[in-house]
Amino acid sequence: MIVRPVTPAETAELRRAVLRGGRPVLLPGDDEPAFHVGGYDGEVLVGTGNVRREPAPWAPEQPAWRLRGMATAPAARGCGVGAQLLAALLAHCREHGGGLLWCHARTPAQRFYERAGLQTRGQPWEDPEIGPHVIMWREL
Ligand SMILES: CC(C)(COP(=O)(O)OP(=O)(O)OC[C@H]1O[C@@H](n2cnc3c(N)ncnc32)[C@H](O)[C@@H]1OP(=O)(O)O)[C@@H](O)C(=O)NCCC(=O)NCCS
Repeated sequence: MIVRPVTPAETAELRRAVLRGGRPVLLPGDDEPAFHVGGYDGEVLVGTGNVRREPAPWAPEQPAWRLRGMATAPAARGCGVGAQLLAALLAHCREHGGGLLWCHARTPAQRFYERAGLQTRGQPWEDPEIGPHVIMWREL
């Protein structure tokens, strides 16, 4: 797999399919500056994720990055695609000042994030459209 920077538009279809049940919704934050990566198996996009500078809600003074839009195509899951993309995003954040990395993690993905060194903070909550989430974070 090749991991490379991409535009939000290049990955929107995959993110809608994986994260929004295929609904033709606007993807939150796509109009804001962010660093998006795509994982390509040949010409086929198999995974994506992005980071942007955004303070963590509990530490507004601290430099921080918010992780969003982690999505691997169903057929490519469990093969390390997500881990490679997340590693590339962590490297980008470190090269651009580091700080905290945080996200609203879907609870089924919690173990995936824990393996990358993130820990939970606070109690899980239910997003009525998307399901259970919990805040996760790590120092970069
Ligand atoms: C979470 C996700 C991005 C991980 O991508 P991936 O390419 O499968 O990740 P890796 O192969 O590097 O790691 C697989 C890990 O993800 C976990 N995982 C979570 N959901 C999974 C799924 N539906 N299928 C396979 N693995 C899944 C596995 O438990 C595995 O961890 P383990 O090896 O400790 O058991 C991917 O499963 C996905 O797109 N899930 C649906 C969307 C989602 O929940 N995104 C996160 C939003 S916060």
